[in-house]
Amino acid sequence: MLDLAAAKASGRRLSMVTAYDWTSARLVDAAGIDCVLVGDSVAMVVAGRSSTIPATLEQMIYHGEIVARAAERAFVVVDLPFPYQHLGVRAAVKACARLLKETGCQGVKLEGTAGQADVIAGIAAAGIPVIGHVGLRPQAVHQLGGYRMQRDLDRLMADARAAADAGAFSVLMECIPEAAARAITAELAVPTFGIGAGAGCDGQVLVFHDLVGLSLERVPKFARAYADAKGTMAAALEGWRKDVEAGRFPGPSETRG
Ligand code: KIV
Repeated sequence: MLDLAAAKASGRRLSMVTAYDWTSARLVDAAGIDCVLVGDSVAMVVAGRSSTIPATLEQMIYHGEIVARAAERAFVVVDLPFPYQHLGVRAAVKACARLLKETGCQGVKLEGTAGQADVIAGIAAAGIPVIGHVGLRPQAVHQLGGYRMQRDLDRLMADARAAADAGAFSVLMECIPEAAARAITAELAVPTFGIGAGAGCDGQVLVFHDLVGLSLERVPKFARAYADAKGTMAAALEGWRKDVEAGRFPGPSETRG
């Protein structure tokens, strides 16, 4: 069982990667990564939507169940999709309870400001481990004027503190200045995860497709590809097509009888 508080106390850096399907979840889990996030980025990465806003509760349950079943070791967290955290404590707790009961995931993550502290408190009081997501909140992309760095340190600190004080077991910070992320990490007793927030966080999180070089669309500047999965897969597909066209596939070893 992952002990995030002990990790923070010992200074061990934590890792979290998204997964949406059985194969990617198995790979993330087998790589020894601490947490798997069934992100609502599924709407963009898997479904090709232009934002995370269209992700539905049913879709998060569908993908969450697959990922939770695939992960044997890692702590699995699933995103609360828009707009449940804005529908009041009761509706948010009900949605999070469905996410936990119907997926087997161990925690939920929700985007919010200090204004959602009561919702985080309600979810935590229901015994549901919850991560607060502050800074760039993709579900609020239209209100924030695009996918841009959030720089208001007072506001970021207030949002992160509110989430932790309300009972969040961790706070995820997206696209904020490194100095702000360091200050928040030093201030909070709970571990922080950063994405586009510099090296001063307790842990780092990346989207699976960005990390393995499989993203077809805009790759954020803060992501690093550790492989060229897109190139490898494109070459494999083209190679197979050419072999079929030239009569080289199937060959004797792929043929029975
Ligand atoms: O949905 C997601 O993939 C996320 C990450 C960007 C942290 O929330």
